Amino acid sequence: RTVYVNGQFVPEGEAKVSVFDRGFLFADGVYEVTSVLGGKLIDFDGHATRLERSLRELDMKAPVDKDELLAVHRELVEINSIEDGMIYLQITRGAPADRDFAYPAADVEPTIVLFTQNKPGLADSPAAKVGIKVISIEDQRWGRRDIKTVQLLYPSMGKMMAKAAGADDAWMVEDGKVTEGTSNNAYIVKDGTIITRDLGTEILHGITRAAVLRFAREAQMKVEERGFTLEEAKNADEAFITSASTFVMPVVEMDGQKIGTGEPGPVAKRLREIYLEESR
Ligand code: PDD
Repeated sequence: RTVYVNGQFVPEGEAKVSVFDRGFLFADGVYEVTSVLGGKLIDFDGHATRLERSLRELDMKAPVDKDELLAVHRELVEINSIEDGMIYLQITRGAPADRDFAYPAADVEPTIVLFTQNKPGLADSPAAKVGIKVISIEDQRWGRRDIKTVQLLYPSMGKMMAKAAGADDAWMVEDGKVTEGTSNNAYIVKDGTIITRDLGTEILHGITRAAVLRFAREAQMKVEERGFTLEEAKNADEAFITSASTFVMPVVEMDGQKIGTGEPGPVAKRLREIYLEESR
């Protein structure tokens, strides 16, 4: 596989990043994941725009502009013959001479890395047909979840807690309300209304979320952007998640309790179809 590191396309075994890189030492970096379906990038513009925002929020400079970024994405898809899969992009604050909490001088260049993952049949994942199971856990992440940083240890722990409980993922709860999934936005449906957490610093502003809510409104579905409780989730008619890697994925069980009929619901199924149809 060929990867991209600081302006160069190189075989993955030859790619090098400094041990002093602040991404490695401080998780001082941001990332994006963009899906590829049939060789085409999904929602690239949204991901590039959010990347710029994440960088700005952390006073980090962008090593490449949007057009260059698009060109690199396309080149990697081409070189690695990706039909279905994803592209991971990461920008970290670079490698100053010493470890220091303060940000380095402006002449330290950020490190940019991109790689692909091949996932044949990504859009026809068997999980989408049966739905996934989630558990609830306390949200113990930092307070700026609107910035897509590489600081992902708590979400990883959440995923492991889910696996240990025989589930697929965890929904995180703060002050009695669900924030989001470990790596996705969370939704419930009650009496035909789609309910999902409103945007703020408490959740990542999902690119798939924005597209799905737009399609839902265009299809005259009712949408409420507000926090919801675990109690509401367990009594919902259906539930689902969205992300660049799962698109729209039904959730059929929460903390061992069936949601609705315990099968993927009609709203989730319809939104998945619309999303895949419209964004390809
Ligand atoms: N995760 N919330 C969190 C905490 C996320 O990490 C993600 C994405 C989302 C959904 O955002 P989007 O629709 O833009 O992918 C919500 C990516 C896929 C990941 O970490 O792999």
